[in-house]
Amino acid sequence: MAEAFRIGLLGHGTVGGAFETLLTERCEQIAAITGLRPEISGVLTRSRGDFEEILGGCDLIVELMGGLDPARDYVLRAIAAGRHVVTANKQLLSHHGEELWGAAREHGVQLRFEASVAGVVPVIRVLQESLAGARIDRIHGIVNGTTNYILSEMASRGCSYADALADAQRLGYAEADPTEDVNGRDAAAKMAILARLAFDTPVHIDQVTYEGIELITADDMQYAEDLGLGLKLIGTAERIDGKLAVRVHPAFLYSGHPLASVHGPFNAVTVESEAITEITMSGPGAGGPQTASAVLGDVISAMIPPASTPETTQALQIVDDVESAFYLHMEVEDRPGVLAEVAALLGAEGASIKSVVQQGLGERARLVMVVHPLLESRFFEAVARIGSLDFLRSPPRAIRVIDEEFV
Ligand code: HSE
Repeated sequence: MAEAFRIGLLGHGTVGGAFETLLTERCEQIAAITGLRPEISGVLTRSRGDFEEILGGCDLIVELMGGLDPARDYVLRAIAAGRHVVTANKQLLSHHGEELWGAAREHGVQLRFEASVAGVVPVIRVLQESLAGARIDRIHGIVNGTTNYILSEMASRGCSYADALADAQRLGYAEADPTEDVNGRDAAAKMAILARLAFDTPVHIDQVTYEGIELITADDMQYAEDLGLGLKLIGTAERIDGKLAVRVHPAFLYSGHPLASVHGPFNAVTVESEAITEITMSGPGAGGPQTASAVLGDVISAMIPPASTPETTQALQIVDDVESAFYLHMEVEDRPGVLAEVAALLGAEGASIKSVVQQGLGERARLVMVVHPLLESRFFEAVARIGSLDFLRSPPRAIRVIDEEFV
């Protein structure tokens, strides 16, 4: 009989429960692969278990509590006690990653976190190992399953934002409190982690600019369809003139973009580098069994050394005013000179119009256009001026467009 490999489990919610079930199912196969039989030696929840006791009786800690406190303290204590740690905690790593990775290096243990970004899609491993030799220029990601589900449902069924969110909660994609799913902060945490790995630069979540999908309406999507565009919540991390920009916002994509066909709770990450052109990984990004599968993969890897924690080899400056193309939606009076005045204000800031459609007549007239890429600050300056024109019937709505066609 194989020797036991003892796992201390912190947290027993949706993912913790699914992890225990999966571990029981896969125990024999894992013993055959590793020569060790994994077992859960202790569980800590709000109502049961003692951390010190669990730590003393385990070979590895799995942290699935989420949040910063007490997770940070427990992970640091586990590392200091020489235990490997596997975590799915994106908040923890996007706030305290440098401290935790540093501690893991110092104590010679592994800190694995595949499940912290994009669920079961093995993007962490690919960045840390498979693409370690590539100079990465840019990452685009759909890294929040809840918002991708909501936008997919609004586009395909025409349902309201509120109904789609309620469905996402019922299906277990959203966090207990979905605020950070829909306001973009969950995706921002994940992009901070991806950017950290791809660009060897410490990135704190507070350095990621983010916008959510709360203000998106079903008619934005309908108009955009006429322009050949589909809407996603996109995270971007990119090298710009030797600096690094990391951001999350809703963006329209043309149908040929590799992320345009990622629907429902799926996540996907596209990595671009001159040497490798482009790689897209996609799969389930949320849900208990899916995330548990990524956690178990990390546990097995920790049972079979070696692995690494990220090193800081450079520190690119982080910038937030970058170039982007935009979709601009305006409810206007239908009279001569309106389009010309809008175009003049855009032109004055260097915005060039790529395409434009007018929908409706008279009281219901709407102008919807796409402008070529320009510095975001200049575009928003033009939008502020347009917003004060007397022929506008409501504030203009602007959404970024990822202005690339992949073949
Ligand atoms: N609530 C997250 C999402 C789950 O919707 O993607 C995993 O982080």
